[in-house]
Amino acid sequence: MRISYTELENKVRSMIKEKRFQHSLGVVSVSRMLAERFGLSPDDAAYIGIYHDAYRYSCTEETPSYCISHGIEVFPEEEKEPMLLHGALAAIHFPDDAEGDVPDYFQTAVRHHTLGHREMGRYGAILYIADYIEPGRKHLDDEERKNILSKPRLEDMITTIMDMQNEYFKREGMKNAAVSTELYDYIKSGGEL
Ligand SMILES: [Fe+2]
Ligand SMILES: [Fe+2]
Repeated sequence: MRISYTELENKVRSMIKEKRFQHSLGVVSVSRMLAERFGLSPDDAAYIGIYHDAYRYSCTEETPSYCISHGIEVFPEEEKEPMLLHGALAAIHFPDDAEGDVPDYFQTAVRHHTLGHREMGRYGAILYIADYIEPGRKHLDDEERKNILSKPRLEDMITTIMDMQNEYFKREGMKNAAVSTELYDYIKSGGEL
């Protein structure tokens, strides 16, 4: 047994800033909609969505070694920028905060929501997409949202988002994480999540 969605929502509200909490609510509503559309559980998607950023403000220089000691693989970009590991921290703490067992795919989804990963699973895909397009996000307009949602598969939505991100990275002179590029190439060569 684990606590209800509402109890988890209340807990998360006390863990993060109001703005981040509102973002999380936006992620929940988009996640529910996508889960319904693709035949997954809207309740599971909501539980994952409300929790995904609970550790957004908890990363320190020690976080990479903390994650490694909990059996989590840490990627070079995360080593350099520990904030990227807030999903990994959430994965570690999920059963404690839920006060009971959570399915592995809950932990896998939150673990990989920032950089993406070919093993992120379908709930991971939903979270990744919802995190990017939830209505509170100001970095894209409704036309771009509509374009992402018009794709027939979750995989195509992800590569559309990554194309947009890569353009941004190029403008900023940044390099995409290797694990993200691996996901992109995996989908483009016919891989499914
Ligand atoms: Fe996040
Ligand atoms: Fe987020």
